[in-house]
Amino acid sequence: MSQANIGVVGLAVMGSNLARNLASREGNTVAIYNRSYDKTEALVAAHPEANFVAAQTIQEFAASLSAPRTAIIMVKAGAGTDAVIDQLCQVFEPGDIIVDGGNALFTDTIRREAAVRATGINFVGAGISGGEEGALTGPSIMPGGSAEAWETLGPILRSIAAIAEGEPCVTHVGTDGAGHFVKMIHNGIEYADMQLIAEAYDLIRRGTGKSPAQIADIFAEWNTGELESYLIEITAEVLRQVDASTGKPLVDVIVDEAGSKGTGVWTVQTALSLGTPVSGIAEAVFARGLSSHPEQRALAANFPGPDNFSVADEDAFIEDVRQALYASKIVAYSQGFDAIRAGAAEYNWTINLGEVARIWRGGCIIRAQFLNRITEAYRADESLALLMAAPYFADAVATAQSAWRRVVIAATQAGIPAPAFGSSLSYYDGLRADRLPAAVVQGQRDFFGAHTYRRVDKDGTFHTQWSGDRTEISAVDTH
Ligand code: 6PG
Repeated sequence: MSQANIGVVGLAVMGSNLARNLASREGNTVAIYNRSYDKTEALVAAHPEANFVAAQTIQEFAASLSAPRTAIIMVKAGAGTDAVIDQLCQVFEPGDIIVDGGNALFTDTIRREAAVRATGINFVGAGISGGEEGALTGPSIMPGGSAEAWETLGPILRSIAAIAEGEPCVTHVGTDGAGHFVKMIHNGIEYADMQLIAEAYDLIRRGTGKSPAQIADIFAEWNTGELESYLIEITAEVLRQVDASTGKPLVDVIVDEAGSKGTGVWTVQTALSLGTPVSGIAEAVFARGLSSHPEQRALAANFPGPDNFSVADEDAFIEDVRQALYASKIVAYSQGFDAIRAGAAEYNWTINLGEVARIWRGGCIIRAQFLNRITEAYRADESLALLMAAPYFADAVATAQSAWRRVVIAATQAGIPAPAFGSSLSYYDGLRADRLPAAVVQGQRDFFGAHTYRRVDKDGTFHTQWSGDRTEISAVDTH
């Protein structure tokens, strides 16, 4: 019986929740399959309202789907994904659609898409953001793959995506690995945003002595203004939480070593090879790395630093931190969108950056009020080379820059690490500099390696004969 229009393979929490979300939407009948049938049975028993079509074997699963068969794989990214794709390719037919909804590395998606396409089956790598809750109630979805697959998949994904201001948070991002690429950058921005909020908390706590609960109130207040975002909102919740067994703020009993599953690292690795300076995102990844080396931290614990720190005007300082956070956040998004632009150029994707911002307004972890401003900026100028140069963001950063500097100075003087604040400010100053010391680097490169340089006053490429008479000659550009 081919009664289901969509199937889900892999019924861990994300898969189960996505299957339930699909089943709850008008017009969908959902087939489900899991490697061990126990999980399938348990899901069917727990959610009779979903009317799942439970399959015991992959053959049964394929038989239960109407053509074109469409299945979303929700397994942990890696070898398991390849194994499920192989299984599905054996039971699916040309024209059918396999969707990988995991956090796959986009280059794996490019490879898989090419291999699956050769069989005539469509393969779509789709980034899905929003965690367990989002999968159930409405995630932000970033599908790649072919336009043909999108025709079938579009209505199904629109039916389950988060809605922001009346519009579903899903769009066909681009071909093959474009969806997973954009999801990877989403996660990179997520890392930066989280680190910036954490630095803001640390500065306020150590600068004013306020308790986590009091800082939760400050964040809740910030969440009513231009910083309004899911991450600010949940940080307030985390800071307010009291540990039941000790009565202490939960944040004080959590070990201060940040984990990661790798998508932030991928963002930075990819940006490095694209030559795109995502320095705020990189600092966030490195900060997690530093935190997770207790043996190094123990050896450095007695390194001297400044004496106790307290600020004279608490309210003014907190407002400065808010502005520094906003400016640094703009840098993180600007760098992230820059990386998407560079990735699109490198991999021949046509990615509408305004659309990316639009589908991040709801459902995903970095959903934030100011994504509307990003959409507007790209609608006004599709080929904008630097997001933070759009009038709205340029004004916002100009307004914040004095406060930003005061905060970075205060952090440095107080010995409080604020790597993401600091590097974001340096990026801003680097961009706006009239002259950069890159000229010195070019001189050094020419000195030891005859790497040549260009001049400000005439065209061409030049080399100074450093080991000879130090006269300048025209040279072939060696970069
Ligand atoms: C999302 C998240 C999610 C990611 C977690 C964990 O968009 O829903 O990005 O996909 O897996 O945030 O990431 P780390 O373990 O690397 O922090």
